[in-house]
Amino acid sequence: MMSMLGDRVKFSDGKLMTLSADPGRRVYGERLTDVSGKEYREWSPYRSKLAAYLCLGGSYFPFREDRGVLYLGAASGTTASHISDVAADGRIYCVEFSQRTFRDLVRTCETRKNMIPILGDASSPAGYGFAVGKIEIVYQDIAQKGQADIFADNMEHFNAKCGMISIKARSEDVTARPDRIFDRACERLTERGMRIVDVLRLERYEKAHAMIAVEMMI
Ligand SMILES: C[S@@+](CC[C@H](N)C(=O)[O-])C[C@H]1O[C@@H](n2cnc3c(N)ncnc32)[C@H](O)[C@@H]1O
Repeated sequence: MMSMLGDRVKFSDGKLMTLSADPGRRVYGERLTDVSGKEYREWSPYRSKLAAYLCLGGSYFPFREDRGVLYLGAASGTTASHISDVAADGRIYCVEFSQRTFRDLVRTCETRKNMIPILGDASSPAGYGFAVGKIEIVYQDIAQKGQADIFADNMEHFNAKCGMISIKARSEDVTARPDRIFDRACERLTERGMRIVDVLRLERYEKAHAMIAVEMMI
């Protein structure tokens, strides 16, 4: 029976890993492991909030082999490269607004045909919409004030079905209790037409962060 992670992500010897779509190559110095004759890349929960979510027991994972993903805040492509392993026949549109980081992202995308780098500002989806094809999922990790609304704007603009957003409490308000910020983000996403399907604090790996998974209400 296929697990909720699909057949390209697994835990082996307690380590999370993805089946490499680009065997023999590392993206960020991760360990490569042979499992039954296939090469897997270890996916570190200390380097990726999506990995932290899964290692902490998170149960929502919409990524599949042929899905289209809009990734907001891709940085140099660490987490996006693991999604690229999973959505091997899909497309991952990777938006990043820092010019310097974008250069590293372009290098990562050079060897991965399903990752498309886009220099753009997640708060202006109309500015990069022309470069984005059909997507089902929005994944966001931008650590910027107004995170929930930026995510909702993109969900709406690209007509996405579901998504996951990493919320950094300190980017919203350094004085407020993180729980309060996460509650407020959930309220806002609900007001914007989404159903909350999971909320998990990432505390063990990322201080004052939570992952929220949503599906669009029809
Ligand atoms: C925490 S890092 C992302 C790490 C990455 N998601 C990973 O796991 O590999 C946040 C990134 O979001 C980018 N960022 C912040 N605000 C943004 C915005 N409005 N549009 C696009 N990128 C943004 C930053 O430049 C930074 O590279």
